[in-house]
Amino acid sequence: MKNNRIRNGVARWLCATALAGALGAVPTLASGQEIGPVQAPEFDAAKAELGKRLFFDRRLSGDAAIACATCHQPDKAFTDGLALSKAYPGSDGFRNTPTLINTALAKNWFHDGRIGTNLNDVTRESITEDYIMNLDMRLMQERIKQDPVYVQMFADAGYGEPSNGAVRKAIPEYLKTLISRGSPFDTGQMSDAARRGYELFTGKAGCVACHSGPLLTDEARHNTGVPENPDIWNDPIRHMTWAAYASFMGVENYMNLRRDVGAYIWDHKADGSTVGTFITPTLRELKYTAPYMHNGMFDSLFEVVSFYNEGGGDDPNKDARLKPLGLSFGEQKDLVAFLESLSGDPLTGPEFVWEGEISTNYPAIENWRDVSN
Ligand code: HEC
Ligand code: HEC
Repeated sequence: MKNNRIRNGVARWLCATALAGALGAVPTLASGQEIGPVQAPEFDAAKAELGKRLFFDRRLSGDAAIACATCHQPDKAFTDGLALSKAYPGSDGFRNTPTLINTALAKNWFHDGRIGTNLNDVTRESITEDYIMNLDMRLMQERIKQDPVYVQMFADAGYGEPSNGAVRKAIPEYLKTLISRGSPFDTGQMSDAARRGYELFTGKAGCVACHSGPLLTDEARHNTGVPENPDIWNDPIRHMTWAAYASFMGVENYMNLRRDVGAYIWDHKADGSTVGTFITPTLRELKYTAPYMHNGMFDSLFEVVSFYNEGGGDDPNKDARLKPLGLSFGEQKDLVAFLESLSGDPLTGPEFVWEGEISTNYPAIENWRDVSN
């Protein structure tokens, strides 16, 4: 029954796409870009279990104050509920924390898409970047090889001795377990309002031009004209964090910038056309991930939909496809209902969360200087 409904839904969508494509109303999507259920990747249980403990372990930050899970909290679909994230103690973040659900299936990472290789690199960046966890990986290795629980877990996972390389593999293995499941959209249990919203999304509201595929993203960068978050420029601590980042990324004139330049930070396109572009985010699990956009400027999904209804923001680089939509109040509510139907079961059980205390009260290795790694 459920499966039939999904199949019918997909069939209706394919049909609508073909028809609309012929009429020129909405873009025709290539195969693989249809909105549909997320396929869970295979993972190795022992490696993922090790990755889970590492994800919740504060010793992965320089001063052992924050873990990955400090910012990526399971009950908020691995976000933090803040407009702009926290950062390593003494600094403050300038971006909204994205969900990590389905991140294992993404093709690039961070709001500006500056990492397009793999999650191994994202993990390294998150641990070593001075405003994120600020830990030298050599020190990390020394810390974890002192902990007998890790020594055992690395061995059980087939990695041998605790090592940097294995940390950068085990955390991504854990991230593969964080996959959407049970959303009304996938189980065919959408409300009538959500169904009407789906028709708008794939039809006259034009959302599917950028939000396509199982994760509802084309993984490309676009400028939608989201207003700047003034806290980045008014709060000296946040501003310093931004300036350090922009300087490190080689952006000229970074002390005078008063905007987040988005993907321009790494592609430095001379014509300036990528200033203010950000990677299209996934639209799954939005129920748990407010506030929205790269800088948390919108508190609710209704605000986001009204923003699009007005044709997006005001920016010379704004994508030409964003135009006032003329949606009624009811239609905007229907779009919100559709967006909500893309949220599934919370991933808050022991499969996903390291629930025990991570004890650091173990006997010191007496001859640790002589123990090889
Ligand atoms: C201080 C808060 C904080 C901590 C700690 C943190 N993150 Fe993040 N994470 C963020 C923010 C903010 C972003 C978005 C950064 C950007 O766009 O520049 C992010 C982005 C990501 C992304 C990319 C998601 C996407 O869809 O683009 C992944 C994956 C990720 N973090 C994993 C981790 C892992 C693994 C750890 C621990 C090793 C970690 N994070 C620690 C705040 C944090
Ligand atoms: C031209 C491409 C494009 C179109 C068309 C488009 N979006 Fe987006 N969408 C984006 C980009 C890019 C972002 C991220 C912008 C940012 O963070 O500054 C985004 C962000 C969002 C977010 C915030 C998600 C989050 O986690 O913060 C929602 C919700 C959303 N879009 C819904 C829609 C809806 C509904 C429509 C149709 C009315 C639509 N989008 C049309 C590209 C597009």
